[in-house]
Amino acid sequence: MSKRYTITAALPYTNGPIHIGHLAGVYVPADIYARYKRLTGNDVAFICGSDEHGVPITIKAKNEGVTPQEIVDRYHKIIKDSFEEFGISFDNYSRTSAKIHHDTASEFFKTLYDKNEFVEEVTEQLYDEEAKQFLADRFVIGTCPKCGNEESYGDQCEKCGTSHNATDLINPKSAITGNTPTLKETKHWFLPLNKHENFLREWILKGHKKDWKPNVYGQVKSWIDDGLRPRAVTRDLDWGIPVPVEGGEGKVLYVWFDAPIGYISSTKEWAEREGKDWEPYWKDQDTKLVHFIGKDNIVFHCIIFPSMLKAEGSYILPDNVPANEFLNLEGNKLSTSKNWAVWLPEYLKDFPGKQDVLRYALTANAPETKDNDFTWKDFQARNNNELVAIFGNFINRVVVLTNKYYNGIVPMPSTFTAIDEETLAAVKAYPAVIESSLERYRFREASQELMNLARLGNKYLADEEPWKLVKTDEARTQTIMYVALQIASALATLSEPFLPFTSTKLKQILNVTSSAVEMSWSDISTKDVLLPANHQIGQSELLFNKIEDKDIQIQLDKLEASKKANEAANKKVEPQKYTITFDDFTKLDLRVGTIIEAEKMPKAKKLLVLKVDTGIDVRTIVSGIAESFTAEEVVGKQVTVLVNLAPRALRGVESEGMILMTENAEGDLVFVNPDTTVKNGLQIS
Ligand code: MF3
Ligand code: ZN
Repeated sequence: MSKRYTITAALPYTNGPIHIGHLAGVYVPADIYARYKRLTGNDVAFICGSDEHGVPITIKAKNEGVTPQEIVDRYHKIIKDSFEEFGISFDNYSRTSAKIHHDTASEFFKTLYDKNEFVEEVTEQLYDEEAKQFLADRFVIGTCPKCGNEESYGDQCEKCGTSHNATDLINPKSAITGNTPTLKETKHWFLPLNKHENFLREWILKGHKKDWKPNVYGQVKSWIDDGLRPRAVTRDLDWGIPVPVEGGEGKVLYVWFDAPIGYISSTKEWAEREGKDWEPYWKDQDTKLVHFIGKDNIVFHCIIFPSMLKAEGSYILPDNVPANEFLNLEGNKLSTSKNWAVWLPEYLKDFPGKQDVLRYALTANAPETKDNDFTWKDFQARNNNELVAIFGNFINRVVVLTNKYYNGIVPMPSTFTAIDEETLAAVKAYPAVIESSLERYRFREASQELMNLARLGNKYLADEEPWKLVKTDEARTQTIMYVALQIASALATLSEPFLPFTSTKLKQILNVTSSAVEMSWSDISTKDVLLPANHQIGQSELLFNKIEDKDIQIQLDKLEASKKANEAANKKVEPQKYTITFDDFTKLDLRVGTIIEAEKMPKAKKLLVLKVDTGIDVRTIVSGIAESFTAEEVVGKQVTVLVNLAPRALRGVESEGMILMTENAEGDLVFVNPDTTVKNGLQIS
């Protein structure tokens, strides 16, 4: 039965590109769901856009010395383009700086204001005297009153997910100056969540107990059980949507008030463009509203936004909020600031045409019920052992053999054996099996069922061995190939939500893109013939290619470089050593010299054997810099040499002095040398 679906994916903050954590947690499952719902004949609005307000964006702008608008313009484009190239099939991707959004959010606020749904109150808020600024949200860091995390933000603790008021933090510190804030009075509008407690209890705790994911339900229950308190929905900031009521001058809407309304304004923008009416997508009780988010967004989508929608009065409430847990990368938490991530734009550059591989690896290993780890080895294995060896191999065999035996024309089957009947019946059962997983938001399970269908195909061919029978039993061979082609055809359609690029390619190979032979999801279980005899298919083309170790090593090296850079950035500055006299200092004979020859010390990873012109003489110095420099690179470099260090033998080579080094921001060794070329032998004093 056809139904209307409004499917939203969390609006990403525009302060950095998308990474695999975002994809696995939100955008890939949301896209699978949206594609599946479209394919099964529903009316779908798949909605997203950029979240362009909020403190992180102003902080980034400040750090870079540019305006917040420049930051959001830059990342909005990067994010939007990369989603598109990755094949996320949003019906609309808007942004919260759009006029339609400012208007929609302002109007929403005014409606609640007019309905007396806010509590207006002058309270004491944290203030940074030095920055002359109120501190809210990410401008303040302190200890979470719930879990004791010492780095909780003002509005939310990332450790335990609790959302709180900035004044709840123990030991608050300004993120701008590091100062301890003072308290200063200011007026704000509060959404009295306590007033909505009964409604939330009825709606979620009673209504959705069974069908919401346990992690989502559990978190929401614990917050409601702890008691809800009024939450300020305005801020003393200058980046955001101006508070549209009297007394709101110089204040903006809290980013978490305006951002979810972005789903509504993005739907409006889409409807306007498509000549549709947006309202049924948000106001018709028959519409199913589903929010795809990460677990740090649960409180906003299950408590605050529903309370806003309920208070407004004319909107539907989400039917489900299938939040995911977090994805880690090679054993460590993903981090934008530490550059510990796989960035989508970089992936698309490094693995052109391999969108489906990443989609598949992220889905097969999705953090659905617990945090999960992405490793490049697993990515490679998913590609080589499943996509190439199972799915790709099956399709390739079927298409190659059909071309070889029948010039690409689907053969006429004769009598089906029991195995054939069973196999065809199993194919018919697949849509329901995959649906059952998808309806419960179990995307990993669904992706494995899809792979099982390809496995079934491989096993069928391996058992029936048409390549042997072709010499002896023409009729039987035709039947086998016919059955195998039906499986291939089912795969072309059932793979569409999971592997959209592959599905398109496979449909082209099977020549089923014209409407006459095109198949819907439900055809697979209802029709006896998916690919009719005498239908002409095309030539084989590899759907997937093996990913080699060297391609994986490039990615691991990138991460290693990030790790080194972080270690360098976090390196503690050593405390000062004990005092020496001037006489002590003059004992050191430091000179400027030039490296005139260099070669690698055999069998020593770190050592270069250098010939250095010290101005006094040319001498041999063994230096531990081979991991940072090649021999060729250092020849000709001017360096600082401690020339009167007692000689010592390193691996049998006498070293007569020492070259002064330090480390750069990437953790690599660098020379300490005069900032212009000077005469060798000059003393450093
Ligand atoms: N920008 C938020 C984040 O990345 C998500 C906003 S979702 C919305 O965590 F509902 F507010 F739009
Ligand atoms: Zn906490």
